[in-house]
Amino acid sequence: MFEVPVNDSIYLRQLQLQDAPLVYKQLDSSRKSLRKFLPWVDYNTNEEHSLRFIQLMLRKAEEQEAVALGIWYQQEFCGVLDLHGWDHQLQKAEVGYWIGEPFQGKGIVTAACKALITFAFKKLRLNKIEIRFVLQNERSGQIPIKLGFAREGILRHSAKLHGQYVDMVVMGVLRQDWKH
Ligand SMILES: CC(C)(COP(=O)(O)OP(=O)(O)OC[C@H]1O[C@@H](n2cnc3c(N)ncnc32)[C@H](O)[C@@H]1OP(=O)(O)O)[C@@H](O)C(=O)NCCC(=O)NCCS
Repeated sequence: MFEVPVNDSIYLRQLQLQDAPLVYKQLDSSRKSLRKFLPWVDYNTNEEHSLRFIQLMLRKAEEQEAVALGIWYQQEFCGVLDLHGWDHQLQKAEVGYWIGEPFQGKGIVTAACKALITFAFKKLRLNKIEIRFVLQNERSGQIPIKLGFAREGILRHSAKLHGQYVDMVVMGVLRQDWKH
């Protein structure tokens, strides 16, 4: 099981099946803020959907394709951080994240990403991490900026949000440039 301590108040641990009620509860209570930039939120309407997500991610972890970690803040579950698109030939993966509304704006996701990316470079021997976000999601974009990622480009019309095509920004960092 993947476990990544972050600091005195934040801890990351791979999501397990029994976490499904916690994940769903946090998602459901922050639905309004999360659905703005995460298209799948509207399709996640009961605990069973969170359970299926965790099952899928556990399977992908066995194949070393992806890993989903819960974020615990002061012992309370608050959000999810994941590695996906894990490419073994290129030693590259993408990081994704969401956090419940009461926990937003406290620097939790930035600190959690920093620890996960250090873990990915040191323990998983990855060479590159990417973060992709919808162009208008400035809050999400602050995270790779604060962590020293380079802006690599814009993928036009590469996601659909509430029926509209939207552009995605791609930011990346190489192991050789990771100073944290
Ligand atoms: C995006 C998200 C993950 C950020 O997590 P977080 O823990 O709140 O982020 P942090 O507190 O670590 O950092 C956010 C930074 O953005 C800044 N910020 C906040 N609101 C902002 C806004 N509207 N525009 C620009 N920057 C903003 C904050 O000031 C902070 O920077 P600072 O620490 O220098 O002040 C979280 O808000 C979230 O889950 N949002 C909804 C889901 C989502 O968009 N997920 C990302 C999909 S790519």
